[in-house]
Amino acid sequence: AFGKLAAKSWAKTVNGGWVKPVQALLFIAMLGFGAVYFITDSLTAFYIMTVLAIAFGWMWIAPIGGGDMPVVVSLLNSFSGWAAAGIGFTLGNSMLIIAGSLVGSSGAILSYIMCKAMNRSLINVLFGGMGSAAVAGGADDGAPKTYKSGSAEDAGFLMSNASDVIIVPGYGMAQGRAQNAVKELYELLKEEGVNVRFAIHPVAGRMPGHMNVLLAEADVPYDDILEMDEINSDFPSTDVVLVIGANDVVNPSAKDDPTSPIFGMPILEVTKAQTVMVIKRSMSTGYAGLDNSLFYMDKTMMIFGDAKKMVEEMVRSINGGGH
Ligand code: TAP
Repeated sequence: AFGKLAAKSWAKTVNGGWVKPVQALLFIAMLGFGAVYFITDSLTAFYIMTVLAIAFGWMWIAPIGGGDMPVVVSLLNSFSGWAAAGIGFTLGNSMLIIAGSLVGSSGAILSYIMCKAMNRSLINVLFGGMGSAAVAGGADDGAPKTYKSGSAEDAGFLMSNASDVIIVPGYGMAQGRAQNAVKELYELLKEEGVNVRFAIHPVAGRMPGHMNVLLAEADVPYDDILEMDEINSDFPSTDVVLVIGANDVVNPSAKDDPTSPIFGMPILEVTKAQTVMVIKRSMSTGYAGLDNSLFYMDKTMMIFGDAKKMVEEMVRSINGGGH
């Protein structure tokens, strides 16, 4: 999991028909030697079981894509807790039992919440393999699709003249380290008398609470940071939505297209606002590898560029706009 998160070449995702049988073989052999050790106290069986467990651990994680690693890490964390609790029983140490159970259950709950918010089951994350398969999904009839693009100045002008603006941050805000610039934009718009709020999707970014942590770090007041369920009904009365490096969490196909791999995942319903502006560097896909029909809508304006640079340009244009 570490290798995948650090994008090491030795941790590349392995796949192929041989993977599952090998996993099953290692697992059964590991249990077998464990049983032999349990019955006969043979240390050789114990060492073989340990080596098989390491091999099984490797073979289990290797086929899972890098994007699913947050779930996997949280699950492994949970396992370490249960292991500690198990050792606590063996040693009769109640401290280990309590601490282990806390780590074990919190990790399990976190993994469950992450999977639920991604509309996937834990089994699917651990044994399904996303990413590669998902690219083929989505309704794409091959016809050339058109989109509108605009500049940061246009966006600054539109926002400073709006009365309600909702900012939707996503993974791109984290990637571009744009949170401080975003805070500056937020403050500037507030000074202009605009009602600005943030809409946070539960799985925006790559970790639970990713966006909340970044916005807190930039000192954005909590009162203006709203969860998806709190703010979804406000989009129809919103003039401008600014999407900063988010993609899957605002993809309407999760609602409208039953063939989409993310169909059923709750999304931020930004399409209901009057105007949507999307900052990203290109038309490329997000984590789930899916095209996003939001980008091709009449009401949508794409603003191509790095999140931080574009937001800074918006700030500059509003500042220089003579309001
Ligand atoms: P994504 O769907 O991953 O989209 C992020 C977008 O940001 C990309 O399309 C990318 O487009 C853009 N981007 C990247 N770097 C940028 C930069 N420096 N400046 C501007 N734009 C940039 O993100 P999301 O909407 O936040 O959705 C999160 C996804 O991660 C969901 O599918 C979720 O299921 C998954 N996930 C979440 C978690 C948790 S717990 N949060 C855990 C595992 C998986 P360009 O390349 O064109 O710029």
